[in-house]
Amino acid sequence: MTPATYSAREQLRDGRPVHIRALKPDDEAGMLAAIDHTNAESLRRRFFVTKRNFSANEKTFFLNVDFVRHVALVAVVEDEGRLTIIGGCRYIVTEPGEAEVAFVVIDAYQGQGIGTMLTSHLAGLAREAGLKQLAADVLPDNTAMRKVLGKCGFQTGRSVDPQVVHLTLALTSTAGTASGA
Ligand SMILES: CC(C)(COP(=O)(O)OP(=O)(O)OC[C@H]1O[C@@H](n2cnc3c(N)ncnc32)[C@H](O)[C@@H]1OP(=O)(O)O)[C@@H](O)C(=O)NCCC(=O)NCCS
Repeated sequence: MTPATYSAREQLRDGRPVHIRALKPDDEAGMLAAIDHTNAESLRRRFFVTKRNFSANEKTFFLNVDFVRHVALVAVVEDEGRLTIIGGCRYIVTEPGEAEVAFVVIDAYQGQGIGTMLTSHLAGLAREAGLKQLAADVLPDNTAMRKVLGKCGFQTGRSVDPQVVHLTLALTSTAGTASGA
């Protein structure tokens, strides 16, 4: 399995199955629907502004993922008989060996462990790709994200921007390896 065909089965805390898979170019409608089901505060935490509309260039950027410098996963559940994207994450390589991560989970599914499983799968892919470090810039009041990243081994580092908390995960150990199937 390559990062572009990544696929793993997981369970939500309430036992429902969830599919963690690579983002596909035809996921645009599902991604936009997910944004519609994400509250303004969550969007501010993800984009640092309350962003709901995306330009054609932004959509291209978010959907045309090369799975080398830019890797994106989505979490999909069956909701009322329809496959629905309920969350996603990505890393973007910012310098050799290092990538920046970002996450979003739609309102109705937050607190079900999806953020944690996305982080674990993304970190596993980054490790297998040979990256040395993942980094995240998080707003200080974003307790949920800080908790998820902390659980996954990220540590608070020095931030150049006083408005954000900079967290990093060293990928040299074997913990948290991706286990897609
Ligand atoms: C951050 C985010 C991705 C986490 O996703 P999630 O699926 O809810 O994460 P999980 O369920 O794995 O874990 C969230 C944890 O934070 C906890 N939490 C949530 N809100 C909290 C709060 N206000 N105070 C304390 N803990 C909180 C949950 O209880 C859970 O902890 P637990 O595992 O001990 O029960 C999701 O909240 C989100 O999309 N937020 C908006 C976008 C965002 O902030 N992106 C990050 C920018 S990089």
